[in-house]
Amino acid sequence: MSETTRRPTSETDVLVVRGGTPLQGTIRVRGAKNLVSKAMVASLLGDGVSRLYDVPEIRDVEVVRGLLELHGVRVSDGAEPGELVLDPANVESAHVDEINVHAGSSRIPILFCGPLLHRLGHAFIPDLGGCHIGPRPIDFHMHALRQFGAVVDKTPGGLHLTAPDGLRGTKLELPYPSVGATEQVLLTAVRAEGVTELRNAAVEPEIIDLICVLQKMGAIINVHTSRVIEIEGVPRLAGYAHRPIPDRIEAASWGAAALATGGQVEVVGARQADMTTFLNVFRSVGGAFEITDVAPPRDGHPGHEGGIRFWHPGGELRAVALETGVHPGFMTDWQQPLVVALTQARGLSIVHETVYEQRLGYTSALNTMGATIQTYRNCLGGTPCRFGRRNFHHSAVIAGPSKLYATDLVIPDLRAGFSHLIAALAAEGTSRVYGVDLINRGYEDFEAKLAALGAATERP
Ligand code: EPZ
Repeated sequence: MSETTRRPTSETDVLVVRGGTPLQGTIRVRGAKNLVSKAMVASLLGDGVSRLYDVPEIRDVEVVRGLLELHGVRVSDGAEPGELVLDPANVESAHVDEINVHAGSSRIPILFCGPLLHRLGHAFIPDLGGCHIGPRPIDFHMHALRQFGAVVDKTPGGLHLTAPDGLRGTKLELPYPSVGATEQVLLTAVRAEGVTELRNAAVEPEIIDLICVLQKMGAIINVHTSRVIEIEGVPRLAGYAHRPIPDRIEAASWGAAALATGGQVEVVGARQADMTTFLNVFRSVGGAFEITDVAPPRDGHPGHEGGIRFWHPGGELRAVALETGVHPGFMTDWQQPLVVALTQARGLSIVHETVYEQRLGYTSALNTMGATIQTYRNCLGGTPCRFGRRNFHHSAVIAGPSKLYATDLVIPDLRAGFSHLIAALAAEGTSRVYGVDLINRGYEDFEAKLAALGAATERP
Protein backbone atom coordinates (compact mmCIF):
# COMPACT_ATOMS: atom_id res chain seq x y z
CA MET A 1 0.00 0.00 0.00
CA SER A 2 1.24 3.50 -0.74
CA GLU A 3 1.57 6.19 1.92
CA THR A 4 -1.84 7.57 1.06
CA THR A 5 -3.68 4.27 1.05
CA ARG A 6 -2.25 2.81 4.29
CA ARG A 7 -5.01 2.35 6.87
CA PRO A 8 -4.80 4.30 10.15
CA THR A 9 -5.50 2.46 13.37
CA SER A 10 -8.97 3.90 14.09
CA GLU A 11 -11.64 1.79 12.47
CA THR A 12 -14.37 4.21 13.60
CA ASP A 13 -13.07 7.23 11.72
CA VAL A 14 -14.21 5.83 8.38
CA LEU A 15 -16.79 6.84 5.81
CA VAL A 16 -18.10 4.29 3.36
CA VAL A 17 -18.80 6.01 0.04
CA ARG A 18 -20.79 4.34 -2.74
CA GLY A 19 -19.68 6.25 -5.81
CA GLY A 20 -21.25 6.92 -9.16
CA THR A 21 -24.19 9.11 -8.11
CA PRO A 22 -24.09 12.70 -9.37
CA LEU A 23 -24.42 15.19 -6.50
CA GLN A 24 -27.68 17.11 -6.83
CA GLY A 25 -29.10 19.75 -4.54
CA THR A 26 -28.50 22.81 -2.44
CA ILE A 27 -26.18 23.45 0.49
CA ARG A 28 -25.11 26.63 2.30
CA VAL A 29 -21.68 27.91 3.26
CA ARG A 30 -21.06 30.08 6.29
CA GLY A 31 -18.22 32.43 7.26
CA ALA A 32 -14.76 31.65 5.88
CA LYS A 33 -12.71 29.40 8.15
CA ASN A 34 -9.61 31.42 7.32
CA LEU A 35 -11.20 34.68 8.42
CA VAL A 36 -13.40 33.58 11.31
CA SER A 37 -10.54 32.09 13.33
CA LYS A 38 -8.47 35.28 12.91
CA ALA A 39 -11.40 37.57 13.75
CA MET A 40 -11.81 35.57 16.96
CA VAL A 41 -8.16 36.26 17.85
CA ALA A 42 -8.70 39.98 17.06
CA SER A 43 -11.35 40.12 19.80
CA LEU A 44 -8.46 39.90 22.31
CA LEU A 45 -7.33 43.37 21.23
CA GLY A 46 -10.60 45.11 22.12
CA ASP A 47 -11.76 46.63 25.39
CA GLY A 48 -15.37 45.69 24.70
CA VAL A 49 -17.50 42.76 23.60
CA SER A 50 -17.23 41.50 20.00
CA ARG A 51 -19.91 39.71 18.03
CA LEU A 52 -19.08 37.45 15.12
CA TYR A 53 -21.90 36.06 12.98
CA ASP A 54 -22.23 33.06 10.71
CA VAL A 55 -19.43 31.17 12.46
CA PRO A 56 -19.20 27.60 11.16
CA GLU A 57 -19.05 24.71 13.61
CA ILE A 58 -15.63 23.40 12.66
CA ARG A 59 -12.65 22.11 14.64
CA ASP A 60 -10.44 25.18 14.01
CA VAL A 61 -13.09 27.39 15.63
CA GLU A 62 -13.22 25.05 18.65
CA VAL A 63 -9.43 25.24 19.05
CA VAL A 64 -9.37 29.05 18.94
CA ARG A 65 -12.35 29.21 21.29
CA GLY A 66 -10.55 26.94 23.74
CA LEU A 67 -7.39 29.06 23.64
CA LEU A 68 -9.32 32.30 24.08
CA GLU A 69 -11.20 30.86 27.06
CA LEU A 70 -7.93 29.74 28.64
CA HIS A 71 -6.82 33.38 28.44
CA GLY A 72 -9.92 34.64 30.21
CA VAL A 73 -12.05 35.61 27.20
CA ARG A 74 -15.70 34.69 27.82
CA VAL A 75 -17.04 33.08 24.67
CA SER A 76 -20.75 32.37 24.43
CA ASP A 77 -23.30 31.68 21.74
CA GLY A 78 -25.38 34.68 20.66
CA ALA A 79 -29.09 34.83 19.88
CA GLU A 80 -28.64 34.07 16.16
CA PRO A 81 -27.52 30.59 15.05
CA GLY A 82 -23.76 30.80 14.38
CA GLU A 83 -23.32 33.99 16.44
CA LEU A 84 -20.38 34.07 18.86
CA VAL A 85 -20.09 36.66 21.60
CA LEU A 86 -16.51 37.27 22.76
CA ASP A 87 -15.92 39.23 25.94
CA PRO A 88 -12.24 40.05 26.66
CA ALA A 89 -12.90 42.04 29.88
CA ASN A 90 -10.82 39.67 32.02
CA VAL A 91 -7.88 38.63 29.85
CA GLU A 92 -5.36 36.77 31.98
CA SER A 93 -2.31 34.55 31.67
CA ALA A 94 -2.92 30.90 31.01
CA HIS A 95 -0.92 27.99 32.35
CA VAL A 96 1.59 26.55 29.86
CA ASP A 97 0.36 22.98 30.48
CA GLU A 98 -3.21 24.00 29.68
CA ILE A 99 -2.17 25.84 26.53
CA ASN A 100 -0.16 22.80 25.48
CA VAL A 101 -3.34 20.75 25.32
CA HIS A 102 -3.83 22.57 22.00
CA ALA A 103 -0.32 21.82 20.72
CA GLY A 104 -0.30 20.45 17.20
CA SER A 105 -3.98 21.17 16.60
CA SER A 106 -3.91 24.27 14.39
CA ARG A 107 -1.71 27.07 13.03
CA ILE A 108 -3.88 29.87 14.42
CA PRO A 109 -2.13 30.00 17.86
CA ILE A 110 0.84 31.78 16.24
CA LEU A 111 -1.48 34.76 15.71
CA PHE A 112 -2.00 35.14 19.46
CA CYS A 113 1.53 36.65 19.79
CA GLY A 114 0.78 40.33 19.16
CA PRO A 115 -2.60 40.49 20.93
CA LEU A 116 -1.27 38.69 24.05
CA LEU A 117 1.87 40.85 24.15
CA HIS A 118 -0.36 43.95 24.05
CA ARG A 119 -2.73 42.64 26.70
CA LEU A 120 -0.37 40.81 29.06
CA GLY A 121 3.20 41.73 28.11
CA HIS A 122 4.02 38.07 27.53
CA ALA A 123 2.77 35.11 25.49
CA PHE A 124 3.31 31.39 25.26
CA ILE A 125 2.57 29.73 21.90
CA PRO A 126 2.36 25.93 21.73
CA ASP A 127 3.75 23.85 18.87
CA LEU A 128 1.69 24.54 15.78
CA GLY A 129 -0.43 22.05 13.89
CA GLY A 130 -2.17 22.40 10.55
CA CYS A 131 -1.88 20.41 7.37
CA HIS A 132 1.37 18.73 6.33
CA ILE A 133 1.77 20.36 2.94
CA GLY A 134 5.38 21.52 3.21
CA PRO A 135 7.72 22.63 5.99
CA ARG A 136 5.54 25.68 6.81
CA PRO A 137 8.20 27.71 8.64
CA ILE A 138 7.36 30.74 10.81
CA ASP A 139 10.52 32.75 10.12
CA PHE A 140 8.59 35.71 8.64
CA HIS A 141 6.44 35.85 11.78
CA MET A 142 9.45 35.76 14.10
CA HIS A 143 11.34 38.40 12.14
CA ALA A 144 8.32 40.72 12.18
CA LEU A 145 7.68 40.28 15.91
CA ARG A 146 11.32 41.00 16.72
CA GLN A 147 11.16 44.14 14.56
CA PHE A 148 8.21 45.30 16.68
CA GLY A 149 10.39 44.84 19.79
CA ALA A 150 9.32 41.37 20.96
CA VAL A 151 11.88 39.05 22.52
CA VAL A 152 11.33 35.48 21.37
CA ASP A 153 12.64 32.48 23.26
CA LYS A 154 12.21 29.26 21.29
CA THR A 155 12.05 26.24 23.59
CA PRO A 156 11.37 22.59 22.68
CA GLY A 157 7.84 22.97 24.15
CA GLY A 158 6.85 26.16 22.35
CA LEU A 159 7.57 29.88 22.04
CA HIS A 160 7.89 32.26 24.99
CA LEU A 161 7.56 35.92 24.04
CA THR A 162 7.94 39.13 25.99
CA ALA A 163 8.01 42.80 25.07
CA PRO A 164 10.12 44.48 27.75
CA ASP A 165 9.96 47.90 26.06
CA GLY A 166 6.51 47.56 24.51
CA LEU A 167 5.79 47.11 20.80
CA ARG A 168 6.68 49.85 18.33
CA GLY A 169 5.68 50.36 14.70
CA THR A 170 8.28 49.36 12.13
CA LYS A 171 9.06 48.99 8.42
CA LEU A 172 8.86 45.47 7.06
CA GLU A 173 9.04 43.72 3.73
CA LEU A 174 7.93 40.10 3.46
CA PRO A 175 10.12 37.83 1.28
CA TYR A 176 6.83 36.28 0.03
CA PRO A 177 3.26 37.58 0.47
CA SER A 178 2.43 35.20 3.32
CA VAL A 179 -1.17 35.25 4.54
CA GLY A 180 -0.29 34.36 8.13
CA ALA A 181 2.67 36.75 8.39
CA THR A 182 0.53 39.61 7.02
CA GLU A 183 -2.11 38.82 9.65
CA GLN A 184 0.60 38.67 12.32
CA VAL A 185 1.75 42.16 11.36
CA LEU A 186 -1.80 43.54 11.28
CA LEU A 187 -2.74 42.07 14.68
CA THR A 188 0.46 43.44 16.22
CA ALA A 189 0.71 46.82 14.48
CA VAL A 190 -2.82 48.05 15.22
CA ARG A 191 -1.94 48.69 18.86
CA ALA A 192 1.83 49.24 18.51
CA GLU A 193 3.20 52.72 19.11
CA GLY A 194 3.66 54.62 15.83
CA VAL A 195 3.31 53.68 12.18
CA THR A 196 4.03 50.32 10.55
CA GLU A 197 4.65 49.92 6.84
CA LEU A 198 4.36 46.42 5.43
CA ARG A 199 5.61 45.77 1.90
CA ASN A 200 4.87 42.68 -0.20
CA ALA A 201 1.81 41.97 1.96
CA ALA A 202 -0.78 39.32 1.15
CA VAL A 203 -4.10 40.85 0.07
CA GLU A 204 -6.39 37.81 0.08
CA PRO A 205 -10.11 38.63 0.60
CA GLU A 206 -9.85 37.08 4.09
CA ILE A 207 -7.11 39.61 4.92
CA ILE A 208 -9.15 42.52 3.63
CA ASP A 209 -12.04 41.22 5.76
CA LEU A 210 -9.74 41.07 8.81
CA ILE A 211 -8.81 44.68 8.07
CA CYS A 212 -12.56 45.48 8.05
CA VAL A 213 -12.89 43.83 11.48
CA LEU A 214 -9.93 45.83 12.83
CA GLN A 215 -11.25 49.05 11.33
CA LYS A 216 -14.58 48.46 13.09
CA MET A 217 -12.56 48.16 16.30
CA GLY A 218 -10.96 51.57 15.74
CA ALA A 219 -7.77 50.68 13.85
CA ILE A 220 -6.32 52.91 11.12
CA ILE A 221 -5.14 50.77 8.21
CA ASN A 222 -4.45 51.91 4.65
CA VAL A 223 -4.14 49.36 1.88
CA HIS A 224 -2.10 50.92 -0.92
CA THR A 225 -1.53 49.54 -4.40
CA SER A 226 1.38 47.15 -4.97
CA ARG A 227 0.89 45.14 -1.77
CA VAL A 228 1.75 47.93 0.66
CA ILE A 229 -0.21 48.17 3.91
CA GLU A 230 0.27 51.05 6.32
CA ILE A 231 -1.00 50.83 9.88
CA GLU A 232 -1.16 53.74 12.33
CA GLY A 233 -1.07 52.28 15.82
CA VAL A 234 -3.75 53.40 18.28
CA PRO A 235 -3.63 52.97 22.09
CA ARG A 236 -7.05 51.34 22.49
CA LEU A 237 -9.50 49.33 20.40
CA ALA A 238 -13.16 48.56 20.96
CA GLY A 239 -15.14 45.39 20.24
CA TYR A 240 -16.70 44.73 16.84
CA ALA A 241 -19.81 43.24 15.26
CA HIS A 242 -18.99 41.48 12.00
CA ARG A 243 -20.55 39.20 9.43
CA PRO A 244 -17.62 37.45 7.69
CA ILE A 245 -17.09 36.83 4.02
CA PRO A 246 -18.35 33.39 2.96
CA ASP A 247 -15.98 30.45 2.70
CA ARG A 248 -14.75 30.57 -0.90
CA ILE A 249 -12.66 27.41 -0.47
CA GLU A 250 -15.64 25.36 0.65
CA ALA A 251 -17.81 26.87 -2.12
CA ALA A 252 -15.25 25.93 -4.78
CA SER A 253 -14.88 22.45 -3.29
CA TRP A 254 -18.59 21.75 -3.75
CA GLY A 255 -18.44 23.25 -7.26
CA ALA A 256 -15.61 20.87 -8.14
CA ALA A 257 -17.58 17.98 -6.62
CA ALA A 258 -20.57 18.85 -8.84
CA LEU A 259 -18.33 18.82 -11.92
CA ALA A 260 -16.44 15.63 -11.06
CA THR A 261 -19.63 13.66 -10.34
CA GLY A 262 -21.54 15.06 -13.33
CA GLY A 263 -24.07 16.71 -11.03
CA GLN A 264 -25.40 20.06 -9.96
CA VAL A 265 -24.82 21.86 -6.64
CA GLU A 266 -26.20 25.21 -5.61
CA VAL A 267 -23.98 26.81 -2.96
CA VAL A 268 -26.08 29.35 -1.11
CA GLY A 269 -23.97 32.12 0.41
CA ALA A 270 -21.10 31.77 -2.12
CA ARG A 271 -19.94 35.13 -3.48
CA GLN A 272 -18.72 35.75 -7.01
CA ALA A 273 -16.36 38.62 -6.15
CA ASP A 274 -14.01 36.38 -4.16
CA MET A 275 -14.08 33.55 -6.69
CA THR A 276 -13.67 35.07 -10.14
CA THR A 277 -10.38 33.24 -10.81
CA PHE A 278 -11.90 29.90 -9.84
CA LEU A 279 -14.99 30.57 -11.95
CA ASN A 280 -12.86 31.39 -15.02
CA VAL A 281 -11.02 28.09 -14.74
CA PHE A 282 -14.24 26.21 -14.00
CA ARG A 283 -15.71 27.61 -17.22
CA SER A 284 -12.55 26.84 -19.23
CA VAL A 285 -12.73 23.21 -18.10
CA GLY A 286 -16.29 23.07 -19.39
CA GLY A 287 -18.25 23.51 -16.16
CA ALA A 288 -21.30 25.74 -16.01
CA PHE A 289 -22.35 28.12 -13.27
CA GLU A 290 -25.02 30.67 -12.54
CA ILE A 291 -24.72 33.48 -10.03
CA THR A 292 -27.61 34.78 -8.00
CA ASP A 293 -26.96 38.10 -6.32
CA VAL A 294 -28.20 38.90 -2.84
CA ALA A 295 -31.67 40.46 -2.93
CA PRO A 296 -32.93 42.24 0.19
CA PRO A 297 -36.62 41.73 1.12
CA ARG A 298 -38.76 44.35 -0.65
CA ASP A 299 -42.42 45.05 -1.53
CA GLY A 300 -43.68 41.84 0.02
CA HIS A 301 -40.97 39.68 -1.63
CA PRO A 302 -38.90 37.79 0.96
CA GLY A 303 -35.57 38.42 -0.88
CA HIS A 304 -32.81 35.83 -1.03
CA GLU A 305 -29.30 35.26 0.15
CA GLY A 306 -27.63 34.78 -3.22
CA GLY A 307 -25.18 32.09 -4.19
CA ILE A 308 -23.62 30.16 -7.06
CA ARG A 309 -25.09 27.11 -8.81
CA PHE A 310 -22.43 24.86 -10.34
CA TRP A 311 -23.17 22.05 -12.76
CA HIS A 312 -21.79 19.72 -15.40
CA PRO A 313 -23.58 20.70 -18.63
CA GLY A 314 -22.93 17.36 -20.34
CA GLY A 315 -20.38 16.57 -23.02
CA GLU A 316 -16.65 16.33 -22.50
CA LEU A 317 -14.62 18.41 -20.11
CA ARG A 318 -11.53 20.17 -21.49
CA ALA A 319 -7.94 20.02 -20.21
CA VAL A 320 -6.48 23.28 -18.83
CA ALA A 321 -3.14 24.63 -17.65
CA LEU A 322 -3.24 26.42 -14.33
CA GLU A 323 -0.89 27.81 -11.77
CA THR A 324 -1.75 28.39 -8.13
CA GLY A 325 -0.68 31.67 -6.60
CA VAL A 326 -1.38 34.42 -4.13
CA HIS A 327 -4.51 36.54 -4.57
CA PRO A 328 -5.81 37.36 -7.13
CA GLY A 329 -4.33 34.12 -8.48
CA PHE A 330 -5.86 30.65 -8.36
CA MET A 331 -5.89 29.63 -4.68
CA THR A 332 -3.71 26.71 -3.64
CA ASP A 333 -6.70 25.39 -1.66
CA TRP A 334 -8.84 25.16 -4.82
CA GLN A 335 -6.25 23.01 -6.53
CA GLN A 336 -6.92 19.58 -5.00
CA PRO A 337 -10.72 19.43 -5.48
CA LEU A 338 -10.42 20.71 -9.05
CA VAL A 339 -7.75 18.16 -9.98
CA VAL A 340 -10.31 15.38 -9.42
CA ALA A 341 -12.53 17.01 -12.05
CA LEU A 342 -9.49 17.38 -14.34
CA THR A 343 -9.05 13.59 -14.31
CA GLN A 344 -12.32 13.60 -16.30
CA ALA A 345 -11.15 16.19 -18.88
CA ARG A 346 -9.95 15.19 -22.35
CA GLY A 347 -6.27 15.88 -22.93
CA LEU A 348 -3.33 16.88 -20.77
CA SER A 349 -3.97 19.31 -17.93
CA ILE A 350 -1.03 21.01 -16.22
CA VAL A 351 -1.06 22.20 -12.63
CA HIS A 352 1.87 24.23 -11.28
CA GLU A 353 1.64 24.60 -7.47
CA THR A 354 3.62 27.70 -6.46
CA VAL A 355 2.41 28.33 -2.89
CA TYR A 356 3.32 25.07 -1.11
CA GLU A 357 6.15 22.81 -2.18
CA GLN A 358 4.55 19.51 -1.14
CA ARG A 359 0.92 19.81 -2.06
CA LEU A 360 0.62 17.17 -4.77
CA GLY A 361 1.30 14.00 -2.75
CA TYR A 362 -2.41 13.20 -2.67
CA THR A 363 -2.37 12.53 -6.44
CA SER A 364 -0.84 9.07 -5.88
CA ALA A 365 -4.14 7.95 -4.29
CA LEU A 366 -6.03 9.23 -7.36
CA ASN A 367 -3.67 7.16 -9.54
CA THR A 368 -4.54 4.11 -7.46
CA MET A 369 -8.16 4.78 -8.44
CA GLY A 370 -7.37 4.89 -12.16
CA ALA A 371 -6.24 8.47 -12.76
CA THR A 372 -3.09 9.16 -14.77
CA ILE A 373 -1.21 11.91 -12.97
CA GLN A 374 2.52 12.41 -13.17
CA THR A 375 4.28 14.90 -10.90
CA TYR A 376 7.47 16.80 -11.78
CA ARG A 377 10.15 18.86 -10.03
CA ASN A 378 10.18 21.40 -12.88
CA CYS A 379 7.97 24.49 -13.05
CA LEU A 380 5.63 23.35 -15.83
CA GLY A 381 3.37 25.47 -17.93
CA GLY A 382 3.97 28.79 -16.22
CA THR A 383 6.50 31.16 -14.82
CA PRO A 384 9.42 29.72 -12.82
CA CYS A 385 8.65 29.75 -9.08
CA ARG A 386 10.77 29.57 -5.92
CA PHE A 387 10.46 25.76 -5.87
CA GLY A 388 11.94 25.22 -9.32
CA ARG A 389 15.21 23.25 -9.61
CA ARG A 390 14.75 22.00 -6.06
CA ASN A 391 13.70 18.58 -4.95
CA PHE A 392 9.97 19.30 -4.82
CA HIS A 393 7.43 17.60 -7.05
CA HIS A 394 5.26 20.68 -7.40
CA SER A 395 3.97 20.39 -10.98
CA ALA A 396 1.51 17.79 -12.22
CA VAL A 397 0.35 16.60 -15.61
CA ILE A 398 -3.08 14.99 -15.59
CA ALA A 399 -4.03 12.87 -18.60
CA GLY A 400 -7.73 12.28 -19.06
CA PRO A 401 -10.41 11.28 -19.17
CA SER A 402 -9.83 8.35 -16.81
CA LYS A 403 -12.50 6.20 -15.28
CA LEU A 404 -12.09 6.15 -11.50
CA TYR A 405 -12.61 2.98 -9.45
CA ALA A 406 -13.31 2.69 -5.75
CA THR A 407 -10.52 1.95 -3.31
CA ASP A 408 -9.59 2.38 0.34
CA LEU A 409 -8.28 5.89 0.97
CA VAL A 410 -6.54 7.57 3.88
CA ILE A 411 -7.07 11.29 4.23
CA PRO A 412 -3.70 13.08 4.30
CA ASP A 413 -4.78 16.69 5.00
CA LEU A 414 -7.85 18.88 4.84
CA ARG A 415 -8.09 19.91 1.18
CA ALA A 416 -6.52 16.76 -0.22
CA GLY A 417 -8.96 14.88 2.02
CA PHE A 418 -11.92 16.60 0.44
CA SER A 419 -10.51 15.77 -2.99
CA HIS A 420 -10.27 12.10 -1.97
CA LEU A 421 -13.88 12.27 -0.94
CA ILE A 422 -14.85 13.75 -4.32
CA ALA A 423 -12.87 11.02 -6.08
CA ALA A 424 -14.70 8.35 -4.06
CA LEU A 425 -18.04 9.96 -4.97
CA ALA A 426 -17.10 10.02 -8.67
CA ALA A 427 -15.69 6.48 -8.73
CA GLU A 428 -17.40 3.24 -9.66
CA GLY A 429 -17.88 1.03 -6.61
CA THR A 430 -17.65 1.43 -2.85
CA SER A 431 -14.67 3.15 -1.22
CA ARG A 432 -13.74 3.30 2.45
CA VAL A 433 -12.33 6.71 3.35
CA TYR A 434 -10.22 6.58 6.53
CA GLY A 435 -9.39 9.57 8.73
CA VAL A 436 -12.47 11.36 7.47
CA ASP A 437 -12.95 13.28 10.75
CA LEU A 438 -10.10 15.55 9.65
CA ILE A 439 -12.50 17.10 7.15
CA ASN A 440 -14.45 18.54 10.11
CA ARG A 441 -11.51 20.91 10.64
CA GLY A 442 -12.67 23.03 7.75
CA TYR A 443 -15.97 21.80 6.30
CA GLU A 444 -18.99 22.30 8.54
CA ASP A 445 -21.38 19.39 8.75
CA PHE A 446 -20.04 17.87 5.55
CA GLU A 447 -21.73 14.53 6.08
CA ALA A 448 -25.17 16.18 6.39
CA LYS A 449 -24.38 18.22 3.27
CA LEU A 450 -23.39 15.07 1.38
CA ALA A 451 -26.69 13.49 2.41
CA ALA A 452 -28.59 16.60 1.27
CA LEU A 453 -26.89 16.24 -2.13
CA GLY A 454 -27.96 12.63 -2.45
CA ALA A 455 -24.55 11.05 -1.86
CA ALA A 456 -24.61 7.43 -0.77
CA THR A 457 -22.33 7.53 2.28
CA GLU A 458 -22.54 5.85 5.67
CA ARG A 459 -20.54 5.25 8.81
CA PRO A 460 -19.88 1.51 9.15
C1 EPZ B 1 -3.07 30.32 5.02
O1 EPZ B 1 -1.97 29.57 5.55
C2 EPZ B 1 -4.25 29.38 5.05
N1 EPZ B 1 -4.47 28.95 6.42
C3 EPZ B 1 -4.02 28.19 4.13
O2 EPZ B 1 -5.18 27.39 4.12
C4 EPZ B 1 -3.75 28.71 2.73
O3 EPZ B 1 -3.46 27.63 1.90
C5 EPZ B 1 -2.59 29.69 2.75
O4 EPZ B 1 -2.84 30.76 3.70
C6 EPZ B 1 -2.33 30.32 1.39
O5 EPZ B 1 -3.50 31.00 0.95
C7 EPZ B 1 -5.11 29.72 7.26
O6 EPZ B 1 -5.54 30.83 6.94
C8 EPZ B 1 -5.34 29.19 8.62
P1 EPZ B 1 1.15 31.44 4.10
P2 EPZ B 1 -0.65 30.29 6.00
O7 EPZ B 1 1.85 32.02 5.27
O8 EPZ B 1 -0.97 31.65 6.49
C9 EPZ B 1 5.73 30.28 3.28
C10 EPZ B 1 -6.43 25.46 4.57
O9 EPZ B 1 -6.53 24.27 4.19
N2 EPZ B 1 6.06 30.92 4.58
O10 EPZ B 1 0.52 32.38 3.13
O11 EPZ B 1 0.09 29.36 6.89
C11 EPZ B 1 4.94 28.97 3.50
O12 EPZ B 1 5.79 27.91 3.81
C12 EPZ B 1 -5.08 26.09 4.73
O13 EPZ B 1 -7.41 26.15 4.87
C13 EPZ B 1 7.39 30.99 4.96
O14 EPZ B 1 8.31 30.56 4.24
O15 EPZ B 1 0.09 30.37 4.59
C14 EPZ B 1 4.24 28.83 2.17
O16 EPZ B 1 5.09 28.26 1.24
C15 EPZ B 1 -3.96 25.24 4.26
N3 EPZ B 1 7.68 31.56 6.18
C16 EPZ B 1 3.96 30.29 1.76
O17 EPZ B 1 4.86 31.10 2.55
C17 EPZ B 1 6.72 32.06 7.01
O18 EPZ B 1 7.03 32.55 8.10
C18 EPZ B 1 2.54 30.75 1.99
O19 EPZ B 1 2.16 30.50 3.34
C19 EPZ B 1 5.36 31.98 6.59
C20 EPZ B 1 5.07 31.40 5.37
